[in-house]
Amino acid sequence: MVASARTSMAVARVPYHLAVIMDGNGRWAERRGLPRRAGHRHGIEPVRAVVESCAELGVRYLTLFAFSSENWNRPEDEIHGLMSLFLEALDREVAELDEQNVRLRFMGESQRLDPGLRRSMRAAETRTGGNTRLDLSVAVAYGGRGDLVNAARRLARQAAAGTLDPDEIDAERFAAELEMARIPDVDLLIRTGSDRRISNFLLWSLAYSELYFSNVLWPDFNSGELNRAIEYYGSRQRRFGRTAQQIEASLC
Ligand code: IPE
Ligand code: IPE
Ligand code: MG
Repeated sequence: MVASARTSMAVARVPYHLAVIMDGNGRWAERRGLPRRAGHRHGIEPVRAVVESCAELGVRYLTLFAFSSENWNRPEDEIHGLMSLFLEALDREVAELDEQNVRLRFMGESQRLDPGLRRSMRAAETRTGGNTRLDLSVAVAYGGRGDLVNAARRLARQAAAGTLDPDEIDAERFAAELEMARIPDVDLLIRTGSDRRISNFLLWSLAYSELYFSNVLWPDFNSGELNRAIEYYGSRQRRFGRTAQQIEASLC
């Protein structure tokens, strides 16, 4: 609903909802002859910097892809290292995020995560639940297809139980079952690390996003590169199916 209210803005400046695929940690480390986990560790500082910049710029929603459902296929020691790092970073950063009035939430299939990490996640969500400056969603063990399948299953259950008429299922009703329920569509997606793909991130909410692919590896990402992405976004005309002439006329 929020997305359609903003549809009339032909040229947007700062994205209302920014999503980031933080990629390139492994290559950053390998290029320095370091173990991949060093790249993951150096990937924490840019997260801090991006959260701070977004809060300052007036971005309202920030969604970060930290670990995909497919990342479970990585070597066990890398997965273990990443999970320890998530827990360490979360426990260390939560007070600062709270201080900055940032609301933190996690999305993804958390059942597979370590109980200690899950506890810290829930505690962080509770602690920051009343914050209003920036909504930060972190996708851990998240996959866009799994999210869609879960939504379909929930709707099917309601239909089978007789509490939902299948004819009532429209895009809005469907979106309400997704992890991004009540969060507007992504305006700008940034992917670092030079690959140009979605890698099963937010398949629904990315339907009309502007896409910015950066060659910078995530540990090197900084406010300069963020500003370049936002400038790119500001230069796009968002038409949502209409013609350029229609958009220009609506501005007069
Ligand atoms: C992104 O960096 C972090 C995660 C996927 C967890 P990568 O670890 O994918 O780094 P590259 O792509 O191998 O360089
Ligand atoms: C995408 O990066 C997931 C995250 C950044 C968390 P990957 O490095 O896992 O993506 P693919 O597998 O190369 O597409
Ligand atoms: Mg990668």
